[in-house]
Amino acid sequence: MKRPNRLPFCERILYGADYNPDQWLDDETVLLEDVALMRKINATSASIGIFSWTALEPSPGIYTFDWLDTTMDRFAKAGLKVFLATPTASKPMWLSELHPEIRRVGRDGRREPSGGRHNHCPTSPVYREAAQRINRELALRYGRHPSLALWHVGNEFNGECHCERCKGAFHDWLRRRYGSLGDLNRVWWTSFWNHTFTDWSQVPTFDQSIDGLTLDWLRFVNDQHVSFIENEMAPLRDLAPQVPCTTNFMGTNHTTNYWQWSRTLDCISNDIYPLHDDREDSWRKSLGSDFTHSLVRGFAGGNPWIMMECSPSSVNWGKVNKLKRPGVHLQEVLQAVANGADVVHYFQWRKGRGGFEKFHGAVIDHEGGSDSRVFKECAEVGRVLQTLSPVVGLSPSRAPVALVYDWEARWALEASAGPKRGTYGDRYTEACVEHFRALRSSGVEVDLVSTDADFSAYRMVVTPALYLLTDDTARRLAEFAAAGGAWVATYLTGYVDGNNRCWRGGFPGPCLREVFGLWNEEVDYLLDDERVRIQGSVFGAAGCTEATDIVERLHSEGAQTLATVASEFYAGSPIVLQNNWGLGKTVYVGARLAEEGYIGFYEHLAAKLGLPRLVLPRGVIRKTRIGADGPVDFLFNYTRHEAAIDLGEATFHRVSSGAACSGKTTLLPYDSLLSGALLPSNLRHTQNPTRSTQNELQPS
Ligand code: GLA
Ligand code: ZN
Repeated sequence: MKRPNRLPFCERILYGADYNPDQWLDDETVLLEDVALMRKINATSASIGIFSWTALEPSPGIYTFDWLDTTMDRFAKAGLKVFLATPTASKPMWLSELHPEIRRVGRDGRREPSGGRHNHCPTSPVYREAAQRINRELALRYGRHPSLALWHVGNEFNGECHCERCKGAFHDWLRRRYGSLGDLNRVWWTSFWNHTFTDWSQVPTFDQSIDGLTLDWLRFVNDQHVSFIENEMAPLRDLAPQVPCTTNFMGTNHTTNYWQWSRTLDCISNDIYPLHDDREDSWRKSLGSDFTHSLVRGFAGGNPWIMMECSPSSVNWGKVNKLKRPGVHLQEVLQAVANGADVVHYFQWRKGRGGFEKFHGAVIDHEGGSDSRVFKECAEVGRVLQTLSPVVGLSPSRAPVALVYDWEARWALEASAGPKRGTYGDRYTEACVEHFRALRSSGVEVDLVSTDADFSAYRMVVTPALYLLTDDTARRLAEFAAAGGAWVATYLTGYVDGNNRCWRGGFPGPCLREVFGLWNEEVDYLLDDERVRIQGSVFGAAGCTEATDIVERLHSEGAQTLATVASEFYAGSPIVLQNNWGLGKTVYVGARLAEEGYIGFYEHLAAKLGLPRLVLPRGVIRKTRIGADGPVDFLFNYTRHEAAIDLGEATFHRVSSGAACSGKTTLLPYDSLLSGALLPSNLRHTQNPTRSTQNELQPS
């Protein structure tokens, strides 16, 4: 889908929160205060009604819209916009009671007792119909309401259901995909352990020993969520076609291939909770958020998107829920804006008195007013965002490098017994984040793309751990290199096909031995505290680095060796290799390297390829949004330390104080600076706005 540059409802950066008036219906004073306090922080909007089904329909077909009428009207009067939720992320008790089949069934065959949330059966026709009914009522009643800006469909859809209906739908899905049971048995390699199916009814929804099944099940679950959302959107689009639809994503969540979801939605929105802990490595976490924001920017096709949730202070679900340090919150918000967010919303507006999230950060604390530190910080953020209207609709600058993030490769890897598990999250995402962080730390800009992206727009494409690799993707990447691009692949590349079956003929498959000029014979998985020494001039002055976790035993078949293994019984084996392919290059990194190793490697590569690079102190990042009238630059110090930098002729403004800085400047811990001719006076760049944006800032 070609997305417009501007979110249709954004004349300025929208600012607001998840708002639950339905929890406060017996206290009108609170509800009136809410709107007054929203105006006080310069809020523009709120997501309303996310878990409010019973408040809207207390019994079948009986609707109580009065409170929502009042809220919508109150918002309209106050000039506030509403992102109106469809309430389907939590089922009404009466509906669960009437139709137990809408409740999700676990792998163990047990039906959930209708508690928690996000646990409806995505296949259930009863639930789908009920969702359409309430959505139709909402669209009929509010579709033309002046405050309505956006449909917030459900909330963070995810998870899986193993009920008989889902099982049947899975069988239908498999029939459509493979046609015959014979073909299914073949692609799933079911003769292993005597798993051959002789009737469709025997095919389970879960069997960890059938890796092809696990992969297809994840694809099916993903498709069910997408079709559930499409089912929800049908009446909204029918009755209120002028109002766009979104559903809030969760970054790199496991069961949700958001590349696919993005195709069906009008606007892209994401929730993010970075869990800042003010340790030495906090800048790494911030680069982790940049990874997620870049992914979301990718979902949005490079266009503006919505940060639908973040916490204004701490969360309540972490192991230790620390407060954000001074400057961190403002920086996190601006970081999202720098990456293309034109909407900044919090979870949550006001802390409830009870329930699981009563201690989750909110703009309004239990104290109830505007005296809290968090409220004041939020008011300051609101003030700053108001001055940033000129960035609305501007696209973040296009990077010269694309990094592929692929749920299919992740699912296939996770479904395969053997490769070692990641230390946090999943190994696949871990690999992608490490390469992204190293590229950014070496001063190179990166876009995140899917496997079906148009690679020709980039100078270099990095595909970390692309474990599942289809013929088609391999061919397109090889063609990209042949046409003059640089393709960087890593350990765990091209092990399996689209059915999670190993490629034959030597890794990397399919047929990539020739493209990379090497053979990956076998893999050594290291113990957690084991290190393997790696040597090579590609690591800069150090000339060496370490490998952890995974070291492949590679043989050159024509590629030039850039680094070799220097310890272990396979010392001397090549580990980083480069091959000429057509007019371009391929590079293979056969081990998980230490951070400094990756950074040295990418600095070397960027220099060799002449990629534009902005060298700044570690943890200092610049991001630019480009408009017809010039760029707006964001400069962040992600570290807890001061950082010395030479801004040269450029003038930036420190967001916290509005003070102008140029020349040799000390960035404060978690500092955020802005520059750009479009910005208002206290945040204005005084230089020629059409200047080159490359390489003018230097560490001093
Ligand atoms: C998610 C949900 C919200 C809330 C927050 C808490 O993002 O969408 O309803 O539970 O987490 O961090
Ligand atoms: Zn089900």
